[in-house]
Amino acid sequence: MKSWHKILVSDARQLSGVDDESVECIVTSPPYPMIEMWDDVFSKLNPLIGNAFKENNGLKAFGLMHEELDKVWMECYRVLKPGCIACVNIGDAVRTINGHFQMYSNHARIISSMGEIGFTQLPDILWRKQTNAPNKFMGSGMLPACAYVTYEHEYILIFRKGEKRKFVSRTDKLRRRQSAYFWEERNIWFSDVWTDLKGTSQPLADKSVRDRSASYPFELAYRLICMHTVYGDTILDPFLGTGTTTAAAVASCRNSIGIDIEKELQQTIQDTILSSLNVGKKRVTDRLSGHKEFIRARYDVGKRIKYLNKNHDVGTVTAQETDIMICVPARIKKMSEQTYEVDYEFARPDVISKSDQLPLFGNNSPRSR
Ligand SMILES: C[S@@+](CC[C@H](N)C(=O)[O-])C[C@H]1O[C@@H](n2cnc3c(N)ncnc32)[C@H](O)[C@@H]1O
Repeated sequence: MKSWHKILVSDARQLSGVDDESVECIVTSPPYPMIEMWDDVFSKLNPLIGNAFKENNGLKAFGLMHEELDKVWMECYRVLKPGCIACVNIGDAVRTINGHFQMYSNHARIISSMGEIGFTQLPDILWRKQTNAPNKFMGSGMLPACAYVTYEHEYILIFRKGEKRKFVSRTDKLRRRQSAYFWEERNIWFSDVWTDLKGTSQPLADKSVRDRSASYPFELAYRLICMHTVYGDTILDPFLGTGTTTAAAVASCRNSIGIDIEKELQQTIQDTILSSLNVGKKRVTDRLSGHKEFIRARYDVGKRIKYLNKNHDVGTVTAQETDIMICVPARIKKMSEQTYEVDYEFARPDVISKSDQLPLFGNNSPRSR
């Protein structure tokens, strides 16, 4: 298998390089309105935003910032294929302007404009980002009536264009089964609160650049792609930043288009793409060895392993997992200034280290019946 990845320096308010109904998924995180680090970026998109701050008018700035994002969401609707999914990671902002403290609910504003554009809202994910910082509580210490709760979560909003996607041809149906996830992955990934992203993030590009760019964890993008797309689909990120979504698409054997307005990020994006080979290899082989351990633990406590995935010689809990085919990114080639191509190898059992080789089936196993 192969995948391709395109990087464009462009303004996502006009996705002229992307055809109508040409991508199967959007995974993205915009600059967050009313979070100070993005004030200048928004003021460049519309100078009236800078004026609103000079007038100390927070609500006006908030509204104008979202009007710029709305243009991108409309473009996302145009380029997304019917039945396909858009995932938007967004946090709300708390801010004091001219002595007045208030919350600016970015997620509520985005949900409302996505609905007006025509997207169907689906259940969202709350990403809990717990902090132990000593100054995390805001307000009046231990004295009642004037304190605010600490804000330690963000959202992953999920929308669909039109009705459910259909997989009609035999090839499409097989591709869907090959791209399935394991039962135990489903139980974690499809939970509405994600708390475990920190520990699974991998080093991509330089950490200080990633911090300055407000990158999201590799695992966040990787899961969303595996949850909502199949092999060979194309993922778009109109606010690519450091390139995390591209790295996740490389790891998951999907094509991608990444767009960012900031030309200076190009070197970081290239570094991310090159390191995505090793990050992807590790994530994908961990997936398979993690599944083998999971099956062994079930077997050890006497649970019956009913199904066999012959591709990887491993038991599964459900019949839907029996065609899963895990592919490992093997080579990345830079094809032009803007495009990369990735080759994949099938994850044979010897891709998994010797210590992970497990006796997967016992007397109850399908192999011994
Ligand atoms: C929150 S960051 C995205 C971080 C990214 N998810 C990552 O993991 O690195 C938002 C990005 O949007 C970009 N941006 C802002 N306005 C844009 C626009 N109109 N078109 C395209 N990109 C834009 C910024 O340069 C910034 O890199």
